[in-house]
Amino acid sequence: MIFSLAPMEGITGHVFRRAHARCFGGLSRAYTPFLATPRVGRGFGRRALAELAGPVEEGVEVVPQLLTADADEFVWAAGLLARMGYREVNLNLGCPSGTVVSKGRGAGFLGRPERLEAFLLDVCGRSPLPVSVKTRLGMDDDAEYDRLLDAYCRCPLAELVVHPRVRADLYAGRPRWEAYGRTLARAPFPVAYNGDVFCTGDLDALLAAWPATRHVMLGRGLLANPALARQASGGAGLSRAELRRFHDELLEGYVAEMGGNAVGRMKEWWSYAGRSFEDPMAVRRAVRKARGLDEYAAAAGRVLDGMRLSDDPRFDGRPLLG
Ligand SMILES: Cc1cc2nc3c(=O)[nH]c(=O)nc-3n(C[C@H](O)[C@H](O)[C@H](O)COP(=O)(O)O)c2cc1C
Repeated sequence: MIFSLAPMEGITGHVFRRAHARCFGGLSRAYTPFLATPRVGRGFGRRALAELAGPVEEGVEVVPQLLTADADEFVWAAGLLARMGYREVNLNLGCPSGTVVSKGRGAGFLGRPERLEAFLLDVCGRSPLPVSVKTRLGMDDDAEYDRLLDAYCRCPLAELVVHPRVRADLYAGRPRWEAYGRTLARAPFPVAYNGDVFCTGDLDALLAAWPATRHVMLGRGLLANPALARQASGGAGLSRAELRRFHDELLEGYVAEMGGNAVGRMKEWWSYAGRSFEDPMAVRRAVRKARGLDEYAAAAGRVLDGMRLSDDPRFDGRPLLG
C-alpha cells in the first residue's frame, strides 16, 4: 500500500514533510501544497522554490502540485520541474476557494468538462513529465462526475487521486465512496483515494469495501495522529517523545523560515495535533492565547510535557482553533 501526504496549503509544506519523515516515517510520497505557477518564460518564485528542494526528501518522493487553467503555463512549469529532477506533476482540480473557483481553476475547472478534457489532452501530450490529477466529483452535484470520469478515462493520466466530495461540500459530510469505487473499476490508469481516513479502522473499512485500493492519501488524519501511516503499516502508535521531537523540529523550521510568524503557523498545526491528546479542548486553551515565541514555547511545553496523550488519537471532523 502506498501512503502519501495530502497537499495542504499552509500546513504540509517542506518543513512539515521533512520533519514528519525524520520523526515518524510511513509515507512514501508527498504532494506539495499548490504552487504559484510561473508565467511562460519566468522561473518559480521564492516561496515555490522553498518547496522545490528536490524530487526525493528524506526518502519520500515529492510530487509538485500546480493550480492553473492555462495549458501553456502548465507545460512550461512542468518543463522547469523536469529539469529540477521531478518525476511527476500534479494538477489541482479540487480547491474550493471562491477566488480560485471564480477564475476557473481548482474545483472551478470541473464546471467546464469539455474545456477540461481539451486541457488535459493538450498538457498530457506536451508535458515532459507524467501528469497526475487530484479531483473532486464536481461543483455542486456528484452526478457531474460521470461526465468528468469519461473525460479522465480518455486522457493518459499518470494517476487520478479522488477526493469524493463536490466543491459545495467543502470538507463536510461523508465522502461519496461509491464514486471512488466506480473510478477504480473503470480507470485505465492508477487511482488513489483521499478523504476522511482518520484512523486505522477507517482504512480497514475502505479496504473491505474496495480491496483493489493501492494508494491512500492522508491529510487531516495524519495531522491529528502523525503516526497514522506507520500504524497502518503495522508499526507502533504515537509516543510523547517523538511528538515532542516533531513539534520542536516544526517550530525550528518555521522560525528559520518566518521568524515570529511561526507562532501562527504552529497554532494552525495544533488545530489538528491537539487531537493527539486526551483533552483536546485543554490543549486549545493552553496554546490559543500565547503571544510571541517565548510565551508560545512555554505553553507548548506545558502541553507536551504535562498532558496525557489519547489512546486513540484521531481527527473528528473540525479543526480546534478554526
Ligand atoms: C487547510 C487545507 C489546505 C489544503 N490545501 C490543499 C492544496 O494546496 N492542494 C490540494 O489539492 N488540496 C488541498 N487541501 C485538501 C486536502 O489535500 C485533502 O483533499 C482534504 O483535506 C481531504 O483529505 P483528508 O480528509 O485526509 O484531510 C487542503 C485542505 C485543507 C483543510
